[in-house]
Amino acid sequence: MKLLNKVAIITGGSSGIGRATAILFVKEGANVVIADTDLKGAEETQNLIKKERGEALFVKTDVSKAFEVKNLVSKTIEKYGKIDILVNNAGVVKVGSLDDYTEDDFDLLFKTNVKGIFLCCKYAVPYMIKQTSGVIINLASIAAHVGQVNHSLYCASKAGALAITRALALDLAPYTIRVNSISPGATDTPMLRSDVAKQAKQRDMDPEALKAEFESQGVMGRWAKPEEVATGILFLASDESSYMTGADILIDGGWAAR
Ligand SMILES: NC(=O)c1ccc[n+]([C@@H]2O[C@H](COP(=O)([O-])OP(=O)(O)OC[C@H]3O[C@@H](n4cnc5c(N)ncnc54)[C@H](O)[C@@H]3O)[C@@H](O)[C@H]2O)c1
Repeated sequence: MKLLNKVAIITGGSSGIGRATAILFVKEGANVVIADTDLKGAEETQNLIKKERGEALFVKTDVSKAFEVKNLVSKTIEKYGKIDILVNNAGVVKVGSLDDYTEDDFDLLFKTNVKGIFLCCKYAVPYMIKQTSGVIINLASIAAHVGQVNHSLYCASKAGALAITRALALDLAPYTIRVNSISPGATDTPMLRSDVAKQAKQRDMDPEALKAEFESQGVMGRWAKPEEVATGILFLASDESSYMTGADILIDGGWAAR
């Protein structure tokens, strides 16, 4: 088992990539804490984890609110006494042209996708420093590497996730804390499905045709399964990546290689 007795906080664990990661981490022996705003989704993740004969603590958390993140960290410490792994996965997408996008869209994208990472690191890292060990994995995106039509604010927020990863890797290396990111391409989750439905409406296209366009952007001609991203997150969380920090792994089906 690659994460035996490790304690991992996974934000956004009620759905998609976060859920797949939570299940995989439990299979690898970790104690998992799911932090999400979505109670129902969290319950579904917990039930799937029970089927693997594991259990996960759920702490209802909006990662953009400091007092909720502080509560998440103290509940984790109360139950497990340490934090070995922090997966900053919670994220939102908004589709829009410059005309469509509003100031509220900007605030939502940045407070979730960038401020959320900042707050979770801010309150979890002091415990990692005490332990002189820890691993942080931030979910960036292909959108941090290439432009995407009608995604300017999302792209900018994900570039923020990449940049904070690199900078924190420098700050935290003296404490043996590694900070890396994963950049998924199109991954079949509720987020991507709703993104495609909205874009299809805006571009007056059939959603299936747009899905096919998205699929063709990766040279592999299909979307990733969330589990295919979770294995990358596991690699960065485990000792197998012990000499990696400040790095980003693209799991994009070849999208950026074009
Ligand atoms: N699906 C893709 O194609 C894709 C591609 C690149 C990057 N990503 C990134 O991967 C991560 C996971 O995405 P996904 O596709 O699994 O999405 P998803 O919508 O299936 O899951 C995201 C989860 O984050 C939670 N969340 C949203 N805002 C939150 C907040 N303020 N506090 C706590 N939880 C919150 C949601 O409730 C949800 O459970 C995101 O950061 C996303 O930007 C996804």
